[in-house]
Amino acid sequence: MATGAFGEAKHMFAETVIASILTYILMLSAFYLHRIRTFHVPVMVFIVLFDLLMPVYLYSTRDWKTRLIDDGDLFSFAVWMHFGLLITLFVLYAIQILAGRKLLLGDQSGRAEHKNVAKGILAVRALVILTGALLAQPQQG
Ligand code: HEM
Repeated sequence: MATGAFGEAKHMFAETVIASILTYILMLSAFYLHRIRTFHVPVMVFIVLFDLLMPVYLYSTRDWKTRLIDDGDLFSFAVWMHFGLLITLFVLYAIQILAGRKLLLGDQSGRAEHKNVAKGILAVRALVILTGALLAQPQQG
């Protein structure tokens, strides 16, 4: 049995939501500590991989036919909102990685773009986690 603060949180959120919130805090620290490149770049790469693999994990551990087809969730506004935000996040990641690569190569022309897209990523990722938390079913784990 989980105890303490984590045990309390588990009553309110699914593990996937707790993990996502923790990665958001990690992302915020990498955002502020961008000058430490050896911290910033690996952490951001980890976050992008985490977000790419989360749908794969959910697909392989959840019963999609029951949830989307039988329960009719496919027609839910929240599901499409969540999906749309996720696609937006992936597009922003692609732009961000290209600008980040420029900075790594010493080309400063990517700096303004990287800085602005960063704010968009923080806002959109927060909304992806929020809409995901609304859709999550804690009893499934
Ligand atoms: C995933 C690939 C990424 C790579 C390769 C990358 C790479 C870099 C590099 C090389 C710098 C310059 C560090 C410096 O000298 O200050 C930088 C700065 C920065 N990065 Fe990233 N980054 C990535 C993702 C992100 C993400 C996802 C965010 C936001 C959530 C972000 C936010 C920032 C910010 C705010 C700066 C400072 C820009 C400035 O004010 O000049 N980065 N990044």
